[in-house]
Amino acid sequence: MPLDVKKIKADFPIFCQEINGKPLTYLDSGATSQKPRQVIEAMNSFYETINANVHRGAHYLGERTTKAFEDAREKVKKFINANSPKEIIFTKNATEGLNLLAHSLGSTLKDGDAILLTHMEHHANIVPWQLLAERKNIELRWVSLDEEGKLNMEELEKLADGVKIIAVSAMSNVLGTINPVKEIAKLARNQDSLVVLDACQFVPHSPTDVKELDCDFLVFSGHKMCGPTGIGVLYGKQELLEKLPPFMGGGEMIINVTTEGFITNELPWKFEPGTPPIAEAIGLGAAIDYLDDIGMENIREHEISLTAYALRLLTEKHGDQIKIYGPSEPAERGGLISFKYGDIHAHDVSQVLDEHAISVRAGHHCAKPLMQELGIGATVRASTYIYNDETEIDQLSIALEEVRDFFKLNK
Ligand code: ALA
Repeated sequence: MPLDVKKIKADFPIFCQEINGKPLTYLDSGATSQKPRQVIEAMNSFYETINANVHRGAHYLGERTTKAFEDAREKVKKFINANSPKEIIFTKNATEGLNLLAHSLGSTLKDGDAILLTHMEHHANIVPWQLLAERKNIELRWVSLDEEGKLNMEELEKLADGVKIIAVSAMSNVLGTINPVKEIAKLARNQDSLVVLDACQFVPHSPTDVKELDCDFLVFSGHKMCGPTGIGVLYGKQELLEKLPPFMGGGEMIINVTTEGFITNELPWKFEPGTPPIAEAIGLGAAIDYLDDIGMENIREHEISLTAYALRLLTEKHGDQIKIYGPSEPAERGGLISFKYGDIHAHDVSQVLDEHAISVRAGHHCAKPLMQELGIGATVRASTYIYNDETEIDQLSIALEEVRDFFKLNK
């Protein structure tokens, strides 16, 4: 194992407790990750020592807070290798970033323009574009998946012809599939389309270099990468963000306001109206420091090895009953495993697992078009992170044996 999981786990206060007399096995980091003491302390320390608003008060606390907030932006910039902090917009969450794009970038589209989406998108990368398509006459095209849950690239190539935007997940939150983003970006470059990446499941688990990915826009959230809830990031190429109209109006996003109108502020503040998530940005900065100390390459390696172990063990022990979705090759997927167990409803499986203090997500995972394509209503999803190891996959497997026995399925 490339990570010292025991040492990492000791940083997370939540794991000090027992649930139903059992140690907590948290396999729901795809929904939200746990938070290390370092992040919690950074946020507490902000409130206890320098709390003020940003870019407003010309006083000691205001200046210290503004510096801490902008330092966090600089950390995000480095973490994803953006060119400038002007390219880093703080939002409430990734969903807000995608709505911002559908609104502001969407306003540059003309009636009859087309956007390419895929069947594996999270609702957050579907509904904002559908709302746009309701306001304007925009065509939405959909790429289907192959039987391993990978994008049909031939179909994508055909459907991408002439589209203005390709909005795609970097890693599916249900299947774990890591999409060939560079290939998609190359295709987009050849025909002047823009690439929007939903990287919520990708950025927390893999080194991310927006220049290498060659995407135009990318969104992710803080809470899936050891940071707090209430903060997301929208990255955009500076020359593109400069041209976009603002999303929401208010203080901070203007240079001047008169009764006649307003002049928008410079990047990135043009897209940050109102008091931003200050403590949350500082918490996200602390989360980035924490992940950087472990090393994103090491995190990715850990994830591949843990996923390989989980795929092997679950197939060996539950072969006849379990149906695992997504690519069979661990290197082609992230650390989340969605499955169906016999004909037992996903919620019933998760309830039995919960009795063993194993937390998983059950349901449609905010990806209903994907569920429709798979022909199912729900899956159980076990998703791992830096604080999980093989013993927890063993626990999952043992608890699934109990599910099998309880529901009287054949071995
Ligand atoms: N988008 C998050 C998930 O997949 C909440 O669970």
